[in-house]
Amino acid sequence: MCGIVGYTGKDRCVDVLLDGLRHLEYRGYDSAGLALQTPRGIETIKEAGQLSRLVAVVGSHNGRYDEAVSGIGHTRWATHGRPNQVNAHPHTGYGGRVAVVHNGIIENFAELREELERRGRRFVSETDTEVIAHLVEERLEAGDKLREAVAAAMRCLEGAFAIAVISSEEPGTIVAARKQSPLVVGLGENENYVASAIPALLGRTRRFLVVENGELVTITADSVELTSLGGERIEREVLEVDWDAEAVELGGYEDYMLKEIHEQPAAVQRTLAGRLDAGGGIDLSESGVDLAGIQRIAVVACGTAYHAGLLGKYAIERLARLPVEVWVASEYRYAHPIGDDRTLAVAISQSGETTDTLAAVETARGFGAKVLAITNTQGSLITRESDGILLTAAGPEIAVASTKAFLTQVAVMYLLALELARVRGTLPEEELLALGRELRRIPERIQETLDLVQGRMGEAAGLYEDARSSLFLGRGVSYPVALEGALKLKEVSYIPCEGYPAGEMKHGPIALVDERCPVVAVMGRGVLREKTLSNVEETAARGARVISVAARDDADAARLSEVLLPVPELPELLGPLVASVPLQLLAYRVARDRGLDVDKPRNLAKSVTVE
Ligand code: F6R
Repeated sequence: MCGIVGYTGKDRCVDVLLDGLRHLEYRGYDSAGLALQTPRGIETIKEAGQLSRLVAVVGSHNGRYDEAVSGIGHTRWATHGRPNQVNAHPHTGYGGRVAVVHNGIIENFAELREELERRGRRFVSETDTEVIAHLVEERLEAGDKLREAVAAAMRCLEGAFAIAVISSEEPGTIVAARKQSPLVVGLGENENYVASAIPALLGRTRRFLVVENGELVTITADSVELTSLGGERIEREVLEVDWDAEAVELGGYEDYMLKEIHEQPAAVQRTLAGRLDAGGGIDLSESGVDLAGIQRIAVVACGTAYHAGLLGKYAIERLARLPVEVWVASEYRYAHPIGDDRTLAVAISQSGETTDTLAAVETARGFGAKVLAITNTQGSLITRESDGILLTAAGPEIAVASTKAFLTQVAVMYLLALELARVRGTLPEEELLALGRELRRIPERIQETLDLVQGRMGEAAGLYEDARSSLFLGRGVSYPVALEGALKLKEVSYIPCEGYPAGEMKHGPIALVDERCPVVAVMGRGVLREKTLSNVEETAARGARVISVAARDDADAARLSEVLLPVPELPELLGPLVASVPLQLLAYRVARDRGLDVDKPRNLAKSVTVE
């Protein structure tokens, strides 16, 4: 939800900021803007729409901004105020002495705006951000230095946000601060940076400081000073990240979504590495949580991560015989959830900064639960709020629609299920090791799936040429796969899609079925495969055009379907790790065929830091 970046140093500031914004665009793409400290004072350039429009405008100014010594940039996901040029960041105070970029929400902005207007300040935008510029400017006029002025403004602001501020009186200095929303400092040689997320700066540095809640950082080209709002110095260990710069580039692919789908074998392999040995033995001692006394599990997550949680439920209940509830995080805190200190709350979040998930974690902590975070982001907020952490090793995920993060989350949930089964002695050791060995082979199976289905996507996507809606059906572990398939297709293609338990379909959604509502059936294995086949047969009898995800030699599925997307045979429980892959490719292909921007679907943002 909005990306902010700041740079001070010897390089061409405009280029550094635009490059940073390019790698933050996944956080919002309603508008983009820069504020630069030039010899003429602060100059701002902002444009509605995607970053490319800002880049074009900057380019048309023929080097006007070459002498900028420092600056801040922003890419916006609109919360307060329409996504037009006036509301685009940076925002300046009335006197033009300060410029502010902001990620998050200022909850008390209406009261603050009223007070500021009473004191004679004039506002030009509809945003909550503009109050920050005025508050800082007032303090500067009263004689404060920039750092004190930002600290004073922070004390007035309520909500969850991160900000970066520059002032015409202190060229080369950027002051940034955080309350909930993420903020990192990138460390360079005679240059320093701030950003909402590490990927923005990976091409420039691998050394970071994570700014914590309620802290302020003041950077110049050769100094970084982390302080409390009261001005006390704070020491922080440097975080060295091992993501490489290529991970945030397209590397020959047309879009990040396709690149990330193809990265899945490697991402899952990295995630399993060191946690499963060649014999299938598991070691999750790094989690830092004692699993022995746990009596129930509550998984909290949003969107795709919620679907990974549902798959975890099937695995944990089946293998470790432990009751698992899975909650959409935004519902959890208001549901008066039941639990105690023998409850393990498992919070799944790629970004580690989703506000709804963090709020659910707080609720679980409130009744004494232990919290285990499964996240892809080292140093993210969720890692600070949890007793234990299991990192997924997907690498930076840039496309807004999650793919590789999902499969790595599922892999970690399966590892957790195996570990719980081991600790609780609920499975014979040989069975446990055999499953562990199968899981270890999953990266190859994902690759095999990619190779098998790629040639068939054109034909499958062809069924969506004039589709009005689509139904995704599955039973047992194939049901969360269907949910995720439907979410993927709807978010990138804008076709209304529903994921449904195949057996439940006849209780309502079958009314949707006609020849313009393709049905995607995830067949699975065992007894549920037979049942799914009958349910799908019922849709075919009503004119549905069927795509099935099934074993390549599944003659029944082939007979029912116009297109069969073949997947390798696996133990039933592990099937979702391959069955999800053709559905990701289907979503991708349908959206591309419609000429849509798959990496930046409309209205969405990658990290959702509002409730
Ligand atoms: C869908 C998608 C979202 C996220 C959700 C949670 O493709 O990406 O549904 O899964 O917003 O995000 P994280 O995992 O960062 O908490």
